[in-house]
Amino acid sequence: SRVITLAVIPGDGIGPEVVSEAVKVLEAVTAGSDIVVDSHYFSLGAARFLDTGDVLSDVDLEAIKQHDAILLGAVGGTPGDPRLADANIERGLLLKLRFSLDHYVNLRPSVLYRGVPSPLAEPGDVDFVVVREGTEGPYVGNGGTIRQGTQNEVANEVSVNTAYGVERVVRYAFATASARPRKKLTLVHKTNVLVFAGSLWQRIVNEVAIEFPDVAVDYLHVDAATIFLVTNPARFDVIVTDNLFGDILTDLAAAISGGIGLAASGNINPDGRFPSMFEPVHGSAPDIAGKQLADPTAAILSVALLLDHLGLAEQAARVNAAVIADIAARTGEARGTAEIGDAIARSLSRND
Ligand code: NAD
Ligand code: IPM
Ligand code: MN
Repeated sequence: SRVITLAVIPGDGIGPEVVSEAVKVLEAVTAGSDIVVDSHYFSLGAARFLDTGDVLSDVDLEAIKQHDAILLGAVGGTPGDPRLADANIERGLLLKLRFSLDHYVNLRPSVLYRGVPSPLAEPGDVDFVVVREGTEGPYVGNGGTIRQGTQNEVANEVSVNTAYGVERVVRYAFATASARPRKKLTLVHKTNVLVFAGSLWQRIVNEVAIEFPDVAVDYLHVDAATIFLVTNPARFDVIVTDNLFGDILTDLAAAISGGIGLAASGNINPDGRFPSMFEPVHGSAPDIAGKQLADPTAAILSVALLLDHLGLAEQAARVNAAVIADIAARTGEARGTAEIGDAIARSLSRND
């Protein structure tokens, strides 16, 4: 049998609710096969910080590293909670994981499934994937402030772009485009203003393009990209972009393709040196936490990305198909978090 070791970080708010359903589906799709999922739970996030003062200790980080993959729900408290001001859960936990585990590809697919309402009148055939750089840009924490708290304060937050870092994510994006039927890659940046980083990204895209003559390449400034995501999202196949543009574009991408409750993501270390981490794009949603109101579909689709990453393409496809069937059968009647997870898990067991 094949044993998969999984580090599970349910986190805060709706995180534990959606992760329960994702684990349920993972169990259903592997039940009766030779795949054994060996899960270890890590209690991390705002709740753990308030309890013990820990954000992500080196001991926890080392333990997490020993797994084949990571499944994360969501971390973070209510925005603005003063008790969490020092914790900086987002930087100290989520970004620390992405940076320490060299998750340089942040993969965020957007598919508008049949039966899913979009806020767009004519969305067309929405099926694209954003390859967001995951370890550089303004996220690295290269910055500082002087004269803090005075009227003369100057706060800098430098966007770091290395040739090494840009090339590896661009190469991944080309390979992704080359493997898709439409074979189209759009670089999104802001080369008209961010001239140093912009020319680095554009030059590397031009260079790597030579190795992928089958891929059609185009370019959009990020502001224009937000127009086309709303007016003509079907024009996109693979988007490659930096860490911050990718963060913003993927919430918009989620909104046009069924909402944040359906948006899955993978923080990938393609070299396989470190475990990759799979999580819904959404956060801990303190406004609906504890009420079984969260849609677990984003977390369940993240399990499909996880299975694919581990080479279990057939199981991944079955999870995707079960989700698509569940979505197509939705009547508009409200279902609780566990009801949705149960329905998807049950349909997987039936197919065995
Ligand atoms: P959020 O994504 O948690 O919530 C935004 C809105 O979407 C809310 O109205 C929420 O109810 C709704 N929503 C989110 N997920 C949903 C789901 N599965 N089903 C139905 N509705 C859903 O964003 P926020 O409010 O800006 O952030 C809340 C906390 O989460 C903050 O502490 C933030 O830093 C953190 N956060 C964490 C991650 C992560 O762990 N990966 C990602 C984003 C935000
Ligand atoms: C996301 C989130 C994170 C990001 C935050 C919580 C650090 O918004 O996963 O999209 O900006 O990457
Ligand atoms: Mn985000």
